[in-house]
Amino acid sequence: MCGIVGYVGSRRVVPILLEGLRRLEYRGYDSAGLVYQFDNQLVRYRAKGKLANLEAVVDEHVGVASGVGLGHTRWATHGAPTENNAHPHTDCTGELVVVHNGIIENYSSLKNELTAKGHVFTSETDTEVLAHLIEDCLQGDLVAAVRAALARVEGSYAIGVLWAKEPELLVAARNHSPLVMGVASDACYIASDIPALLPYTREVIFLDDCEMAVLRKGTYSILKVDDGCPLEKTISVIDWNASMAEKAGYRHFMLKEIFEQPQAILNTVSGRIVPDTGVVDLPEIGLDPAAVNNIERIALVACGTSWHAALIAKYWIEKWVGIPVEVDIASEFRYRRLLVNERVLTIAISQSGETADTLAGIRRAAQLGSKVVTVCNVVGSTMTREADGIIYTHAGPEIGVASTKAFTCQLAALFLLTLYLGQVRKTIDPVTQRKLGAALIDVAGVIETELPRLQAEVKTLIERYYESKDFLFVGRGLNYPIALEGALKLKEISYIHAEGYAAGELKHGPIALIDRDMPVVALAPRDSVYLKVVSNVEEIKARQGRLVLIGTSGDEHLSTLTEDVLYLPEVCEDLNPLLYTIPAQLIAYEIANRRGCDVDQPRNLAKSVTVE
Ligand code: M6R
Repeated sequence: MCGIVGYVGSRRVVPILLEGLRRLEYRGYDSAGLVYQFDNQLVRYRAKGKLANLEAVVDEHVGVASGVGLGHTRWATHGAPTENNAHPHTDCTGELVVVHNGIIENYSSLKNELTAKGHVFTSETDTEVLAHLIEDCLQGDLVAAVRAALARVEGSYAIGVLWAKEPELLVAARNHSPLVMGVASDACYIASDIPALLPYTREVIFLDDCEMAVLRKGTYSILKVDDGCPLEKTISVIDWNASMAEKAGYRHFMLKEIFEQPQAILNTVSGRIVPDTGVVDLPEIGLDPAAVNNIERIALVACGTSWHAALIAKYWIEKWVGIPVEVDIASEFRYRRLLVNERVLTIAISQSGETADTLAGIRRAAQLGSKVVTVCNVVGSTMTREADGIIYTHAGPEIGVASTKAFTCQLAALFLLTLYLGQVRKTIDPVTQRKLGAALIDVAGVIETELPRLQAEVKTLIERYYESKDFLFVGRGLNYPIALEGALKLKEISYIHAEGYAAGELKHGPIALIDRDMPVVALAPRDSVYLKVVSNVEEIKARQGRLVLIGTSGDEHLSTLTEDVLYLPEVCEDLNPLLYTIPAQLIAYEIANRRGCDVDQPRNLAKSVTVE
């Protein structure tokens, strides 16, 4: 939440900041701002709303900027999304500026203290406290002042600081909010996330908590915030490239990412299943066979779409491995009494690897002695650095706020994990294992083949539904989480109220909602619970419900129940969730698009939820 970008070099800084902000806009778009050093002064621009509003303001000044600056795109926490609350924030003199991602939890007491000392505040943000606090500590040495100020701060932050009197210096620091430094031969960068750096460098240094970066023209150093001691950090090379974070001719990132799924799933599986034998290899999982055999219980922890992936993984692991699995929403997990110990394996599922609640959850689990593995998409993210083991999804950068390819890749990774656990604990025989591994690869091919037809059919179908105010999604077994996911996708990008239910739960209350104004999307593949789902569908039809059915090609019975049926080929039952999520994604996308919604940047949301 919130994106920050910074540059120290010799090129004109404003285009670099704007490009960085464009690539970070998915992190928040309530306001945007930038500042650069020019002629011993700081030149600042801010605008309410999307980045385009800032671009309109700064455009004519682009030519005069020097090579040091900071930018920020905001997801509001403290203070309304106004220009006045937009970052960068300044101290009383206007000579010191701060951009910030995170929350300063003790801002109120600090503000009272600073106000009593004569500091004048001009915004409602927690961030402005930092600018005045650093000003208060400043005695000619900006690095020392930032360190002294941060010693007084409670909460989470990734910050960038500039001071007019040190025009070639940028100071950055992090604690519980992501910050990565980019290193090139002629410049240094800071950013909240890798995509902002990709046009300039793929060499990065991930800052850890309580570390700061001091960037000067031609040099940089990393220090510990508390004692100022220098740190040796390794440079990582990222294998993403700049074009992966572009729309590539698609109208929206979300649509591009939906269509990238077949390849992304294959990339996630690639090299992890030995051809012929079907043996699964997960070298980074960090668990030796003895550790796998010792697991008594698995705790899956995640938020949002990643939590839906966890719900599906529970079915798989309990079915094929026989280990009891608990699934928790991370914001609940982190605050309840955790019965977790060294015999419990905690698995955090996260696209970004930065979600604050999931991170806090794994930290608690680790304190209680649990081994932690993360299923994560972003290389070098905080979760991957803190976990004992990693299963990377290889979805590539996901920019659309609504998660699509990251979800199907999480499913692929979790299915691989299931096979791996079954292999080590000998709960899956080799022949079945080989078949399941092959089926996972096959499903990517099926999605690839079906996507264009499905998109065309969904586009036509939604003409009858796009004006609805409410929707229900229902499914059973492995498709119940897909019903939840379909409802989440629809509500987050189209603002239509939608709920997902286990189909068997309908008669325990929600069936009272059924009428002509409440379309129901029912997931009804020919699987082991097919007849049960069909009975539930009949109950909806008997109450004049409008039905969209998604089922198996050749199932003529479905078309007797409604004219709106989307057919999908039969695949291995376990892998239905990967396939059945595709029409659900397309229904959400096409409805949102038809309603003229901002698909990639839905209101009130941000891609990466780095505050709790
Ligand atoms: O980066 P994470 O996977 O940890 O993010 C979790 C959720 O914030 C995320 O899945 C969110 O629910 C998406 N907007 C759903 O499309």
